[in-house]
Amino acid sequence: MEGYSLRPAAVDDLDRVLEIEAVAQPQGAWTRDHFVGEFEKPYSRFLVLTDDETDTQVAGYLVYWVMFEEASLQTIAVDVAARGMGYAKLMLRSLISDAVRAGAQRVNLEVRKSNVPAIQLYQGLGFTVSQIRKSFYSNGEDAYQMALHLDGAPVVF
Ligand SMILES: CC(C)(COP(=O)(O)OP(=O)(O)OC[C@H]1O[C@@H](n2cnc3c(N)ncnc32)[C@H](O)[C@@H]1OP(=O)(O)O)[C@@H](O)C(=O)NCCC(=O)NCCS
Repeated sequence: MEGYSLRPAAVDDLDRVLEIEAVAQPQGAWTRDHFVGEFEKPYSRFLVLTDDETDTQVAGYLVYWVMFEEASLQTIAVDVAARGMGYAKLMLRSLISDAVRAGAQRVNLEVRKSNVPAIQLYQGLGFTVSQIRKSFYSNGEDAYQMALHLDGAPVVF
């Protein structure tokens, strides 16, 4: 995607990240403490997508963990004004490349059963449902656990 690039998040990005988060995850939005906590975990990657011109306009972000053979997506969101332009796909491709470089065998994530845009996004990148986690979310909604296996199989973009 031209004009926007991923870089590690900084404390100065948090106000904008929290604005996007409040709209993107109305049920169970992460707090400032959640995001700050990710800076302190050695296995966590917290990246923001910013404009190349000023490097300050945050259009989206993702947090994922890489631990041994597994990468796991913790959260991802794109600003409403920037959706449908391929930014989430760009961020997940970066996650997958990083996971491959780190020697991970698979990428895991959980998604609400009702979150059709996200499910289609993940399926488009080759993720498949590995199990259903009953009442996973605080409102009682089930989650799909989805996985992308990286071992040997070509990653289809
Ligand atoms: C899910 C989300 C991150 C997608 O971001 P995005 O930048 O708009 O997604 P992209 O433009 O990269 O789209 C990639 C694919 O996702 C799917 N997709 C995206 N928006 C969709 C929609 N409204 N309906 C159906 N599929 C959709 C499509 O398969 C799309 O591929 P295509 O363009 O080839 O059809 C965004 O809608 C969002 O921030 N949602 C709120 C937060 C959230 O639900 N996060 C996931 C938690 S598990």
